[in-house]
Amino acid sequence: MPWHRKHFLTIEELSRAEIEQVLATTGAFRRILDRKVKKVPALRGKTVVNLFLEPSTRTRLSFEMAAKLLSADVVSFDADKSSTTKGETLRDTAQNIQALHADMIVLRHSASGSPLYLSRVLGIPVVNGGDGSHEHPTQAMLDVFTMREKLGDLKGRKIVILGDILFSRVARSNIHALTKLGANVTIVGPSTLVPHWFEALGATVSHNLRTALADADVVMLLRIQHERQAAGLFPSVGEYISMFGLNQTRAAWIKPDALIMHPGPINRGVEIDSALADSDRSVILQQVTNGIAVRMAVLYLCAGGQPEHVLAPIE
Ligand code: CP
Repeated sequence: MPWHRKHFLTIEELSRAEIEQVLATTGAFRRILDRKVKKVPALRGKTVVNLFLEPSTRTRLSFEMAAKLLSADVVSFDADKSSTTKGETLRDTAQNIQALHADMIVLRHSASGSPLYLSRVLGIPVVNGGDGSHEHPTQAMLDVFTMREKLGDLKGRKIVILGDILFSRVARSNIHALTKLGANVTIVGPSTLVPHWFEALGATVSHNLRTALADADVVMLLRIQHERQAAGLFPSVGEYISMFGLNQTRAAWIKPDALIMHPGPINRGVEIDSALADSDRSVILQQVTNGIAVRMAVLYLCAGGQPEHVLAPIE
């Protein structure tokens, strides 16, 4: 089946077959990287602009590395030194970037739906690098890729996502991806951050940590997104830790071979004990590494590449 999407905006809009295509293309790039190939020529002559209007370490750097590994030129937008500080709109900023001959834009923005909006006013591909509380589609793809590497087929696997679900774009994208792949997703945390209406997305909602962790194959921790919350959703960080922080005692409730995951950035000692984040059960840094191959796959596909061409060597 040919890849036909110009933009990469949400996991919600992808079919299971499309998710499998991205995973297969990621696997092909991962095998190329494992052979220590320095670069492939797939995006030679193209310019990718990283338009990040919210802070980022992992997503911005791995998109930059991915584009360079594909032989593209990369320009990273410096929001603090840009004319957005003088009131220039997102639309004007992006249209000017396009006028400067960018071939593709990766957008991170605090407004949910902003990548969809840009995809409608620009003529070049737009890739969502995280939009508000809405979606973080490449994060979900690297999470799923990492789970499949470790566990194989995810059908029937129990994936627990623990923390601030309400404000998490990572949770939403993962729920869409994992349910499409046949996994059972349980979301758990305080009732103010894990409302029952998430059941409409296909997740099981729980406010009981011990019950939720039982039989989990994966426990994914999320930080509290203070930057998106009004006050009053839980009494204090200390009380959150005492009720829902993953510590050594609670880790004993999980199967010994369950994976511990986190999209980063970690608030050590809040959602997860430092020792657990660094333990053998943690695949947190492997998630980060897999982000490069996922982002190579997404840039390649949105630039018009076809999965079958990368499944055969393209060097
Ligand atoms: N996981 C993630 O999106 O991290 P950054 O905010 O550092 O990009």
